[in-house]
Amino acid sequence: MTADMKFWDNIAPKYAKSSIRDEESYRYALGRTRSYLKPNDRVLELGCGTASTAIELAKGVESFVATDISDGMLAVGRQRAQEAGADNLTLLHRPAEDLADGEFDAVLAHNLLHLIPNLEEVLRNVAAKLPTGGLFISKTPCLGEQVGTWKYYMFKVAIPLMKLVGKAPSFVDFTRMQDLEAAVQAAGFEIIETGNYPPSTPSRYLVARKR
Ligand SMILES: C[S@@+](CC[C@H](N)C(=O)[O-])C[C@H]1O[C@@H](n2cnc3c(N)ncnc32)[C@H](O)[C@@H]1O
Repeated sequence: MTADMKFWDNIAPKYAKSSIRDEESYRYALGRTRSYLKPNDRVLELGCGTASTAIELAKGVESFVATDISDGMLAVGRQRAQEAGADNLTLLHRPAEDLADGEFDAVLAHNLLHLIPNLEEVLRNVAAKLPTGGLFISKTPCLGEQVGTWKYYMFKVAIPLMKLVGKAPSFVDFTRMQDLEAAVQAAGFEIIETGNYPPSTPSRYLVARKR
């Protein structure tokens, strides 16, 4: 087990109980994503956590495969999926760096891309997995947008210290929105929608179509 798996396993029970930071922003972005998904779509989600979003979105599509590296997160997700009767939802232990087998029409990644050291490679693999016109939809906290604020410097100091004592993942990128979007475009996508949900931090929502 890697240090990151252990980190996410340890926080899974607390994560499962935590409330959404900005419910209105979450619901709005969820609605935007839902509007792009069609009943016959096969969807893959990377870094699904406790599967809350997967359960919501699986209702409207043909099949939904949700993957994560944490057994703790996946255990909560499986329990929730069963309670919700989400029969078309499959949860798999799988890193984003090794995409699940099968064909997909859309790939989702929420609150994950800033945790991936080899982001360019992962985005290229996602593009290769999708057909032309296939969708990549993500939401990413962009800590790099806060340069010059006390919050930025607090995170810059606190995250390495937290890493030392196992209280933060091994990699947290201080992502900037324009760098993130450039990486998505360079992987072979056209960005067709963006927004900040929630605007504070901000958490960059983007919808991209494979060229
Ligand atoms: C901040 S949580 C977000 C969970 C969920 N997507 C959400 O928005 O609530 C990040 C999740 O990504 C998972 N994760 C971290 N690194 C990963 C990787 N390399 N591949 C797949 N999942 C990963 C963690 O286990 C955790 O469940």
